[in-house]
Amino acid sequence: MQAATALGSSHKRQGSMELVQDTSRPPLEYVKGFPLIKYFAEALGPLQNFEAWPDDVLISTYPKSGTTWVSEILDMIYQGGDLEKCRRAPIFIRVPFLEFKAPGFPSGMESLKDVSAPRLLKTHLPLALIPQSLLDQKVKMIYMARNAKDVAVSYYHFYQMAKVHPDPGTWDDFLEKFMTGAVSYGPWYQHVQEWWKLSQTHPVLYLFYEDMKEDPKREIQKILKFLGCSLPEKTLDHIVQSTSFKEMKKNPMANYSTVPTDFMDHNISAFMRKGITGDWKHTFTVAQNERFDAHYAEEMAGSELNFRLQL
Ligand code: A3P
Repeated sequence: MQAATALGSSHKRQGSMELVQDTSRPPLEYVKGFPLIKYFAEALGPLQNFEAWPDDVLISTYPKSGTTWVSEILDMIYQGGDLEKCRRAPIFIRVPFLEFKAPGFPSGMESLKDVSAPRLLKTHLPLALIPQSLLDQKVKMIYMARNAKDVAVSYYHFYQMAKVHPDPGTWDDFLEKFMTGAVSYGPWYQHVQEWWKLSQTHPVLYLFYEDMKEDPKREIQKILKFLGCSLPEKTLDHIVQSTSFKEMKKNPMANYSTVPTDFMDHNISAFMRKGITGDWKHTFTVAQNERFDAHYAEEMAGSELNFRLQL
């Protein structure tokens, strides 16, 4: 991903009257009732022409649920565990992000043109917004869900460092927005539940971040089974080791460090931030936790989904 123009720049050029277009932190735009990053909302029109191929695999998540982790695992599987091959390009090129669009960057649809079958694709879109072709072609989908409290904390830090998002305000402000679904991609509660429902009628492997943390080898075996492929034990162990948080944090092709600071500022918060379960305990106050739990119980009433908040 090469930035052809200044991205996220809010400055005025020194000594010039010319104003550089302010592309950073635009307000969210609503599409079919879902708030989205402005540029991603603009990408949805062209995305409706997306044609899925039957051997595509779609990685779907609510943001901050371990998308990059599953993406790296899948590319490693596809490359037979060859780490060098996985270093061929940054993760967002190897696994195109369908609805991605931002000034100065190739869109997800443009990145797709350079990818040959079998393709790995990524989305965070709620079901109402995914291209119909993915469903018609019965494309295999791998969904990863993560507990709402850790997602909220991770998303807050991500909003701060990734400047395509509006300003998150204080943690208390952001948590309120998260609970009401006034954050990019809308409510977490609906997302995790509707994809769960889809898994009953469509080939969706529904995974949990917490399970992957607990026993990555077991979860990668589930992925292999779902894809109908097998790998030698040694290769599997190598994938587990190479996709650990520690390894991915120092891998420039996985950690988003190649992206310009105007777009993602790792000095504010690293993309590979903590990679743990239960970090929410360091951020939620007792009052916030009580309020969140009461609201959660209402939103998730009747759901079969059980999330672990610590390991
Ligand atoms: P934290 O902010 O809690 O650290 P996504 O890729 O969906 O944007 O999710 C990002 C979150 O997944 C971040 O969470 C990041 O640190 C975590 N993550 C990325 N790679 C990981 C890995 N290999 N193991 C555990 N967590 C990982």
